[in-house]
Amino acid sequence: MTTQQPDPLLFTPLTLRDVTLKNRIAISPMQQYAAGPDGKVVDYHTVHYGRMAMGGAGLVFTEALCITPEGRLTYSDLGAWHDDFIEPLARLADNVRALGAVPGAQILHAGRKASVQRPWQGYMPLTEQDIADRGEAPWQTVAPSPLPANPGWPTPQALTASGIAEIVAAHGDAARRCRQAGFEVLDIHGAHGYLIHSFLSPISNQRTDGYGGDRLGRMRLALEIAAAVRDEWPDERPLFFRLSCIDDEPGGWTMADTIILARELGRLGVDVIDCSSRGLGQRTTPVVVAREQGFQVPFAEDVRRATDLKTMTVGLIMDAAFAEGVLQGGRADLIAIGREALFNPQWPLQASLALMGDEAYERFWRPSDAWWLEKRARSLAAAKDTALV
Ligand SMILES: Cc1cc2nc3c(=O)[nH]c(=O)nc-3n(C[C@H](O)[C@H](O)[C@H](O)COP(=O)(O)O)c2cc1C
Repeated sequence: MTTQQPDPLLFTPLTLRDVTLKNRIAISPMQQYAAGPDGKVVDYHTVHYGRMAMGGAGLVFTEALCITPEGRLTYSDLGAWHDDFIEPLARLADNVRALGAVPGAQILHAGRKASVQRPWQGYMPLTEQDIADRGEAPWQTVAPSPLPANPGWPTPQALTASGIAEIVAAHGDAARRCRQAGFEVLDIHGAHGYLIHSFLSPISNQRTDGYGGDRLGRMRLALEIAAAVRDEWPDERPLFFRLSCIDDEPGGWTMADTIILARELGRLGVDVIDCSSRGLGQRTTPVVVAREQGFQVPFAEDVRRATDLKTMTVGLIMDAAFAEGVLQGGRADLIAIGREALFNPQWPLQASLALMGDEAYERFWRPSDAWWLEKRARSLAAAKDTALV
């Protein structure tokens, strides 16, 4: 008699508060640069995120929804800064749900990294030339201190206390709109050198008031935003917080800082730390940096071991067995897939085959695909047996 194998952890449901994910794969937030200057959802977004849901992930995050127009990176970012956005966002969320995934949203203010060109246009601050080329005027960016994001970049305006209060409130309003649109998971973007991260790091935050100075002062904006968002985000729905766990810069934010912040966020009702890294200093995206699969897993593991929070890990995860090993090793609770899902939106379904064999067709694939593909697999296996291939 054969003993029944337990399901791989990657395909074991995970319940966070009252929301159950059918598996532990999330599509990481990824900007699509497909919105018009009004920041609203268009058909492209509905199709793109629907395609991600059809690929089998348990949780599909939207790209960053900007909480104010000034908080956008580019003129093609999606927004959540007005109640007019609720209805089109609801269509996107409903479509993801109808296709079998839990819809998640991410909210962002880009701070001193706002007002830039799209990546393929240079990813540099907008200038007069962008007005001439595309009618895209730069706007004034804001930050904790008047320190440019990179050498030669425009100097951001240091936020006043009332400016900070407005930004905290705008995060709360955006969370309410995401709730009203029917998203079931929310991720606050506190990473990659954007506004929240720039308050956390001593490199970018040189304030001397209550929002700067020691670690507690630098954490204050993140904590106020988490509290304002949790107020608007229903108790039954999980809240994630994305952190750059390390700056990887001399004198920057460290893993020890991350653990202290994560504990405080947990007290405020954050459930999952979405563990990323870096992004504060010189932008590394346009250059190729050698990185191995799962290079950020140690951050998720450290947070998970040092706190009672769950963690999501991300970063060049492409192999199903590797992802399963991360979960089995207790190193993270969720695996987020980014660029691999752009390359292959069916990655989660293919991972189910890789880990469970043909049984996965019946359990996870749409019957109309499974019926054909299983036959195809058997034909190919038979051909192999008769040395046809
Ligand atoms: C096209 C693109 C857009 C991205 N946009 C966002 C975003 O809106 N919010 C965010 O937190 N991270 C964003 N990221 C980072 C991804 O969520 C992810 O952390 C990163 O790509 C590393 O994971 P990967 O190696 O699986 O791609 C983006 C990445 C890509 C490739």
